[in-house]
Amino acid sequence: MKIAGKNIIITGGARGMGKKFAVDFLSLGAKPYVLDVVQENLDALKADTGIPGKIVDVTDEAAVEAFFEEYTAANGPADILINNAGITADSLFIKKKDAEVTKFAFAKWDNVIKVNLTGTFLCGREAAYHMVKNDVKGVIINISSISRAGNVGQTNYSATKSAVVSMAITWSKELAKFGIRVGAIAPGYINTEMVAKIKPEMLEKIVANIPRGRLGEMEEISQAVQFIVTNDFFTGRCIEVDGGMRI
Ligand code: CAA
Repeated sequence: MKIAGKNIIITGGARGMGKKFAVDFLSLGAKPYVLDVVQENLDALKADTGIPGKIVDVTDEAAVEAFFEEYTAANGPADILINNAGITADSLFIKKKDAEVTKFAFAKWDNVIKVNLTGTFLCGREAAYHMVKNDVKGVIINISSISRAGNVGQTNYSATKSAVVSMAITWSKELAKFGIRVGAIAPGYINTEMVAKIKPEMLEKIVANIPRGRLGEMEEISQAVQFIVTNDFFTGRCIEVDGGMRI
């Protein structure tokens, strides 16, 4: 698929990696539209780049359905969806410090499952529904993570990032007959605000384990997104862009 002129929806697109994808798509002549949950970030993106967006909670079925109906009526169906919205809430599963033993908090489990997994399901479903209804041979990309392999401190996040790859593979098989392709990308540790939240001493140990010897850059993940969009033989697979690291 050619990128120029395409309608592209990017979840979690007002900042971080999602914003980078949106800005790059704009520079390639596409029409990105971002969903996010922080109005001031949406306003800043619009002011800086002209890229429009809307507050949509991807965990809310009714809100996601209403958005896709409204978007399709106004712009025509999306050609491309990037399921990028994701959060972390890291914690050890069971932690023992001195005599105290603590458990992984349910709220941390639940929030991450809702945004990363349910959000991806709902946006993927609505995008695909409108593509099929309008006979659009579109592309859906789920953003996974190196953590899908199972990362210490990320029971919740790892579970979701493994699941979004499984969903991408499932959808690629089911939607192939409509000409829709679905892929996933598993970035390693990338220079983002999410990674900047890791304690410095922990981050130093992590970077020491990256064969490439540094964090990745958002540009390097954006290139993988563009590859999936433009390569018409690519579907049902996950691209790993992680500097060679294994966790
Ligand atoms: N491997 C092995 N052991 C580890 C470990 C690791 N990666 N991380 C933590 N531990 C161990 C520590 O060495 C420590 O062991 P001891 O008790 O024997 O000393 C124990 O776990 C407790 O560690 P902390 O003192 O750090 O405990 P904490 O409760 O303060 O913090 C934590 C726990 C939040 C999980 C913290 O260790 C942490 O932030 N780890 C990094 C988690 C991580 O990689 N997150 C990725 C975020 S970025 C992202 O998710 C984007 C992406 O897609 C990659």
